[in-house]
Amino acid sequence: MPFLGLLAFVVVVPTVLAGTYRQDIGIAHLDRFLQERAYNATKFAVEAYNRNPESAILKFNEQIQESLEATNNSTRRKLNGGERCMATNPIDRCWRCKSGWAKNRQALGECARGFGEGTTGGMGGCMYVVTDASDDDMLNPKKGTLRHAVIQDKPLWIIFKRSMIITLKQELIMNHDKTIDGRGVQVHIAYGAGITIQFVHNIIIHGIRIHHIVPKSGGMIRDSLGHYGFRTVSDGDGISIFGASRVWVDHVSLDHCSDGLIDAIMASSALTISNCKFNHHNDVMLLGANDNHRGDVIMQVTVAFNRFGKGLVQRMPTCRWGFFHVVNNDYNKWEKYAIGGSRNPIIISQGNRFRAPDNVHAKEVTHRDHYPRHVWKRWKWRSVNDLFLNGAFFVASGDHSEIDQNLKKYMVQAKDGSAVGQLTRYAGMLRCTHARPC
Ligand SMILES: *[C@@H]1O[C@H](CO)[C@@H](O)[C@H](O)[C@H]1NC(C)=O
Ligand SMILES: *[C@@H]1O[C@H](CO)[C@@H](O)[C@H](O)[C@H]1NC(C)=O
Ligand SMILES: *[C@@H]1O[C@H](CO)[C@@H](O)[C@H](O)[C@H]1NC(C)=O
Repeated sequence: MPFLGLLAFVVVVPTVLAGTYRQDIGIAHLDRFLQERAYNATKFAVEAYNRNPESAILKFNEQIQESLEATNNSTRRKLNGGERCMATNPIDRCWRCKSGWAKNRQALGECARGFGEGTTGGMGGCMYVVTDASDDDMLNPKKGTLRHAVIQDKPLWIIFKRSMIITLKQELIMNHDKTIDGRGVQVHIAYGAGITIQFVHNIIIHGIRIHHIVPKSGGMIRDSLGHYGFRTVSDGDGISIFGASRVWVDHVSLDHCSDGLIDAIMASSALTISNCKFNHHNDVMLLGANDNHRGDVIMQVTVAFNRFGKGLVQRMPTCRWGFFHVVNNDYNKWEKYAIGGSRNPIIISQGNRFRAPDNVHAKEVTHRDHYPRHVWKRWKWRSVNDLFLNGAFFVASGDHSEIDQNLKKYMVQAKDGSAVGQLTRYAGMLRCTHARPC
């Protein structure tokens, strides 16, 4: 077992079992089932951990380069009368140009890229059609509801019969190997609790809108066919990823949640957050919640092709301990800062477009909390080919020679920030029509 993997076991499992961070866990009593789940989850996260993260970055850069070239080529073909595909980034090109996407939805299970590559969700499982927007029974949810779908033990590809607004009475606790696929209809999770991905692996959330999520009181909630337990108050996160691995969130629009829009904590790893649209929110994305959670050192996250739009304040993302690739995102006038962190995280900011707010005191992209310079100067924070507008600037730190050397072995660079407009044009929930390219 790699050193960091062992560390995760030594650190995460005992802290979870001892309930040291119980206030974050949401579980009132860690019974035998949950203890086993936490242990299994750590094992999966350690297996998903990539011991050569630079290689994952380079691979992703190559895929971006190739997709831009292919878009270029198909644009030229279109000029010559051929079929045109508007998808510009490697994730979208994997499925959006295919007119048969709705007949072969599970092909999306091969489209995750970055650290979340290999997340297949419910691929290979049955289709489950949600027909009922209600959410009335937390212990024995009705057939046809989203809650009934996500607690099943086998892999499921979950789709929706029609457009609907689902107001969750309590947090939606997901079981392993699920895809929530909102393509082709308009699905909103709104005005209630959010989605909780805790101690499970292999989850895809795709093509929905999550907004106006509020805290809920908790209570008895079922998390799988054979188990339920007492949950304490939920925070009001849009998507809460906790001790989970292989999670891919794509083309989701998030705004107006009470806590974070997306939080990933407690040694979650192998995550990709892509093509999402974030608006109107204070704490946008927290990757690692606490300076004392040393187990987060195995956290590896790709944040790509997202649009950080109007009314956002801070944490896009905030990173602790782990390895973070923030690439080709569009940042438009944050209020305090864009990318923050503490506890020696490695942050590679690559080919983003940063448009600073007009406030002269908030032009800096980066933020290092209360830490003094002599501490943070060793943190490896790197900006490569970013585009800075309206006075935005990035304060780099740390010794990059090792990362640079590994990156230089390969020729392909990330696309520079000027390509961001093209790469993120379709961020957020899409409006796709069956039987046509999306
Ligand atoms: C933990 O993993 C073991 C071995 O794969 C499995 O049999 C068991 O059901 C898992 N437990 C839980 C609670 O997921
Ligand atoms: C797209 O094609 C144009 C003209 O052929 C070329 O100048 C440009 O570099 C190409 N872009 C990419 C990403 O290949
Ligand atoms: C784009 O077209 C060029 C020239 O026709 C070709 O060499 C290249 O392989 C094409 N790239 C892709 C990704 O299709």
